[in-house]
Amino acid sequence: MPTFTLDQQTIEYNPGDTIMEAASRAGIYIPHLCYHPEFTPHGSCRVCVVSVNGRYVSSCTTPASENLDVTNISEAVQQHRKQLLEMLFVEGNHVCPACEKSGACTLQSVAEFCGMLSPTFSFQYPNRPVDASHPDYMLDYNRCINCELCVRASRDVDGKSIFGLSGRGHEAHLVVNSEDGLLGSSNFDKNDRAASICPVGVILPKHQGFNKPIGKRLFDETPINEQMVEPQR
Ligand code: FES
Repeated sequence: MPTFTLDQQTIEYNPGDTIMEAASRAGIYIPHLCYHPEFTPHGSCRVCVVSVNGRYVSSCTTPASENLDVTNISEAVQQHRKQLLEMLFVEGNHVCPACEKSGACTLQSVAEFCGMLSPTFSFQYPNRPVDASHPDYMLDYNRCINCELCVRASRDVDGKSIFGLSGRGHEAHLVVNSEDGLLGSSNFDKNDRAASICPVGVILPKHQGFNKPIGKRLFDETPINEQMVEPQR
């Protein structure tokens, strides 16, 4: 098999693999938010940034090839990620201690893995709504990071296209494709793939908040870097 180097380790890859796919198969975690193995890479969050032969690229969209010299974990790369994560934290209202996704939130866990502490940028405190119109699920837009995983899941798996992004650049935001824009007026169902794909605390089931005690939540027992790689063969 062809190989490339990642943090001085030789990684085998299949032709067509991205750096992320090959690393994950080798059991190596590269922090990521908008990447999900079930969906076509999106390349929007840039948190999966690695240094390749001295250039920063997103590992979820960069094809693996011979002679790549990839740096995943270094102070400089982690610093780059921390800045991206800080921007995500200040752009929304991520109040981790009060969020029921805390302990199971990918954004929170990636930030922990990367060593992010308090953001150095100014908080923007956007004024975003909460949509509680659906009987089984609610949407808290305050925590949206525009990863579009729900958009892809609803469109590509559920065949419903309930979610979409509206606006461009800084104005881009998640919307529901229903006449009044409310989830309760859409055909969203609790069994949809989109219902369980949100990596943060936007799409939340009702009637079961904080049902896992601290210590038993998703990332309490096994850290994210051990969960988000393919099982070792
Ligand atoms: Fe690669 Fe978001 S995970 S750009």
